[in-house]
Amino acid sequence: CAKKDGSGSGSGGGSKALSLGFSQVGAESGWRAANTTSVKSAAKEAGINLKFSDAQQKQENQISAIRGYIAQKVDVIAFSPVVVTGWDAVLKEAKAAKIPVVLTDRSVETSDSSLYVTLVGSDFTDEGRRAARMLEKVLAKAGLKGPVKIAQLEGTTGAAPAIERGKGFKEIMDAEHKSDWKIVVSQSGDFTRAGGKQVMAAFLQSHSDINVLFAHNDDMAIGAIQSIEAAGKKPGKDILIVSVDGVHDGFVAMSQGKINGIVECNPLLGPQLMEVVKKVHDGQKVERWIKTKESDYTQDQAKAALPTRKY
Ligand code: AHR
Repeated sequence: CAKKDGSGSGSGGGSKALSLGFSQVGAESGWRAANTTSVKSAAKEAGINLKFSDAQQKQENQISAIRGYIAQKVDVIAFSPVVVTGWDAVLKEAKAAKIPVVLTDRSVETSDSSLYVTLVGSDFTDEGRRAARMLEKVLAKAGLKGPVKIAQLEGTTGAAPAIERGKGFKEIMDAEHKSDWKIVVSQSGDFTRAGGKQVMAAFLQSHSDINVLFAHNDDMAIGAIQSIEAAGKKPGKDILIVSVDGVHDGFVAMSQGKINGIVECNPLLGPQLMEVVKKVHDGQKVERWIKTKESDYTQDQAKAALPTRKY
């Protein structure tokens, strides 16, 4: 995607600010709230004219927001796709209008790789693998032997982090723990606290012997904790919990002993995104996938890490 005219962001002086149309997934989780704040403040800092819309977790809203940005002739479009499929038509419209598209946070499946320039975001499959490795540590620390009966709270159905975290976790489980670990129940809680609470309550009704919960994000784990306590069980003890994100409330639950381990997924993508958007607008070459660096945290590290968490 080449620079469209001579007024690129690098030209300084009185040139017009680069305009960026950004379609956010929604406001489903603490991670998302931190991501939105990061994108908005980084755009301001970078002098980018940000047009922001919240799709309330609906693909049709994202598609119409993107069409709106095409009609407004923004310089660059960025979006975090709620699900992986169904984007080709609108991405082709952006391409026809010569507006480069940058994906952030989540990826898409497309028949034509030229429909977007790059993805700025995490490796979710690896997060799933890291969650399985974290569970190994948690089980060893708890001294839990015997059958490991796992409940899985999946993210939004069809979303990249739900598909890929599930896949990465299963990959390690099937390769190394086939005889002792079993996912006994698995369902989407839509990455929300309310979803996690409701689905976990149903899990506990149908499977009273669950001893592990793998939640695809902290918010669902926090919702699930409420249902576990309501059922008279101790989260973090009777049911060991591993989740993904590392948001402030997740760290609070972990420092209280209610979550056993967290795989970090960093939402502070704004500064990197703005840098990439400027480069793309200037016609510079960028990597196809700009991966986020992240860490894993156990209960022992939670209290010490909590005061310095940035989201
Ligand atoms: O795409 C990132 C995921 O989306 C986060 O892990 C989850 O909390 C959010 O809703």
